[in-house]
Amino acid sequence: MKRGVYEQLAPILFGSGTVVQVGDKAKELGMTKVLVVTDKGIAAVGHPKKVVDSLKAAGIECKVWAEATGDCPTESVRAGSAVAREFGADGIVGIGGGSSLDTAKAIASIAANTDEILEQIPVYLSGQKSYPNAPLKSICIPTTAGTGSECTRVAVLNDEKLDMKIGLPAFPSLGIVDPELTVGSPASLTAFCGMDAFAHANECLASKLRTPHSELLGYEAIRLITKWLPVACADTKNLEARENLSLASNLAGISFSEGDIHLGHVIAHELGHKYNIPHGLGGAVATPAIIEFVALEYPETTKKIGDAMGLDLTGVTDAAVGREVADAVREMMLEINIPTLEEKGIQYYQVMEMLPAVMNHPLAASYDGTFTEDQVKRILEQTYYWKSKSSNQ
Ligand SMILES: [Fe+2]
Repeated sequence: MKRGVYEQLAPILFGSGTVVQVGDKAKELGMTKVLVVTDKGIAAVGHPKKVVDSLKAAGIECKVWAEATGDCPTESVRAGSAVAREFGADGIVGIGGGSSLDTAKAIASIAANTDEILEQIPVYLSGQKSYPNAPLKSICIPTTAGTGSECTRVAVLNDEKLDMKIGLPAFPSLGIVDPELTVGSPASLTAFCGMDAFAHANECLASKLRTPHSELLGYEAIRLITKWLPVACADTKNLEARENLSLASNLAGISFSEGDIHLGHVIAHELGHKYNIPHGLGGAVATPAIIEFVALEYPETTKKIGDAMGLDLTGVTDAAVGREVADAVREMMLEINIPTLEEKGIQYYQVMEMLPAVMNHPLAASYDGTFTEDQVKRILEQTYYWKSKSSNQ
């Protein structure tokens, strides 16, 4: 059994309707002037208004900045940090999907310091340098169930200079997980986000830093997602399904914040950075291939994943367990209409060209084992052709 420190980065307020408590929670954290960070789509739905109303009722001055964009370019963090400084914000509340929350967390780190930090993200990520000033207090409120950004220690930013997606250290002070905010979000978005959470849990189970605690959360997240993701995709207004998926996303987020993610997310980051593939879709299409790869080294873990998914693996050999579990994931992905990369206009060679970047990405080293170029090549092939069953094509 792995050794490790159990920890949970940020306290979480969980439950339907809890968003209205944000004003009181911000006050408890000592916030007096809050920049609310979100994106235009979420602003149009009206969720940030609930935050503003609650903050105002608690006597907190606030300003809404709805300019967060997908994939979190560093430019967006610079722009938001400038607004936060100009407003004199002493707190940040992010509300939205993963990009809005990561942007909010990054603004909390950068606004309290200088933009130069964004020029040397790897130095801060590796711990060689730490922030001169403590980040602003921040509250993250997800409107999707997938990223777990409300409880993770980095904001994943698109760094044009480094030509990669990379994590800026960014620690939320509190997460408010209100499943009602996810009710009615479209089936495709629900599917991508749910598979993102599945990928977090799955990858973390074979990460170097996993602990018995992260494993417990990972298996439970997989159980909940397998049971409830198809339900939520079929009936986007089903609150019970939404509550279970929000919980799964949060548990998977805590799990991989304590452990880590690896090759599947390297592929997702590269697909997002190079070809604008949505993060959740990128992680989804890689997941069956990652399961088959990991099963070669960790058949017992893969069996437990299958158990969590409700599969009967009696009599299935170690050699076959990866294929069995991966095929079950493929079936779920078909049911929730996850497209292939080909259907998204990506060519086979474009994915195979990612091989050196995937091999050399720092996150790949989080896998608790070795991998060869041939194995990663095979993972990329299977990622592209994820609808093809069997690992022996
Ligand atoms: Fe992810």
